[in-house]
Amino acid sequence: MSQYQQCCEQLQQQPKTWLVTGIAGFIGSNLLEQLLLLGQRVVGLDNFSTGFQHNLDEVQATVSAEQWQNFKFIQGDICNLEDCQTACAGVDYVLHQAALGSVPRSIENPIATNASNISGFVNMLVAAKEAQVKNFVYAASSSTYGDHPALPKKEEIIGNPLSPYAVTKYVNELYASVFQRCYGFNSIGLRYFNIFGKRQTPDGAYAAVIPKWTAAMIQGDTVYINGDGSTSRDFNYIANAVQANLLAATTENPAALNQIYNVAVGGRTDLNQLFNMLTETLAKNAVHYTQAAVYRDFRAGDVRHSQADISKIQTLLGYQPQFNIAQGIEQAMPWYVQHLQGSAK
Ligand SMILES: NC(=O)c1ccc[n+]([C@@H]2O[C@H](COP(=O)([O-])OP(=O)(O)OC[C@H]3O[C@@H](n4cnc5c(N)ncnc54)[C@H](O)[C@@H]3O)[C@@H](O)[C@H]2O)c1
Repeated sequence: MSQYQQCCEQLQQQPKTWLVTGIAGFIGSNLLEQLLLLGQRVVGLDNFSTGFQHNLDEVQATVSAEQWQNFKFIQGDICNLEDCQTACAGVDYVLHQAALGSVPRSIENPIATNASNISGFVNMLVAAKEAQVKNFVYAASSSTYGDHPALPKKEEIIGNPLSPYAVTKYVNELYASVFQRCYGFNSIGLRYFNIFGKRQTPDGAYAAVIPKWTAAMIQGDTVYINGDGSTSRDFNYIANAVQANLLAATTENPAALNQIYNVAVGGRTDLNQLFNMLTETLAKNAVHYTQAAVYRDFRAGDVRHSQADISKIQTLLGYQPQFNIAQGIEQAMPWYVQHLQGSAK
């Protein structure tokens, strides 16, 4: 039995209380779904800045009425310490996801990104410390590797940040380690590498590449590739990220605490390959996209190549990704077809 299966069984036998911040967002709502399916009690905090009520509604439709009763939602802002304190009361584990994502958003509005991602983060650390939660797991980012060219990325070797967003995510790691040093407060940072899956929004100027292209293909719009298509990423399906969160929160290995981990598959797919994978998987779902992609300039602030070394999280937390990129796209595609086909031109 895998460590993750054991973790899930143990949680089912002894349910815990979890706080998920950013619960109305993509990753937060997927964490909510899995936790409720495992019979956990969940408190959720979100200000709906980039999250949606319909994400919560969709989870409600997926779980049983009894499981849904274990969920308490607080509409609030992590920039407000009181909201964080209210949300942390009586909680065993915190999965802190709330932040303003997106590199280009942070370049356009560094003040807003700084407020949620740094001030909000410190508020959450303070509130979780006061509430004496058992463990605090937070969303870090592969953007922290910045301009360092080495591949695959190992946790201890980082370069200079390339965007305000990357600065904020690195500052999170620094604050977390200082809270351990100053207050003995334990935490774990998960450096996500391009997570994708159902409920990741295709809308808006800051949408991630997989939902954005999938939506364009379903709707018969042009797909734009930033650069020559050689930009590469370690795309990671959401179920793997959920696994990493649950393993991190519940770890009983003292050596695993107060660490930063890559959360990825360990693969590398370039944008040209991704374009082909999406068109092929859509065709299997009866959507045929025949247009060629249109190439344009590289995007400011983007890291050119990204691929994780995942040996640390495998060794210390027992993480084993259950889906590679192709399997993840297969899983996610029916959801996109179902949700976006109605709006096709
Ligand atoms: N999706 C990825 O590939 C990826 C990669 C690296 C890191 N991350 C990090 O993972 C986390 C979740 O990302 P996501 O993709 O689910 O994004 P998302 O935008 O779908 O979710 C973020 C959620 O946080 C909420 N939020 C933002 N600011 C808030 C505030 N001040 N108070 C309360 N709620 C607030 C938003 O309303 C939203 O529901 C973020 O911290 C993000 O930086 C994501």
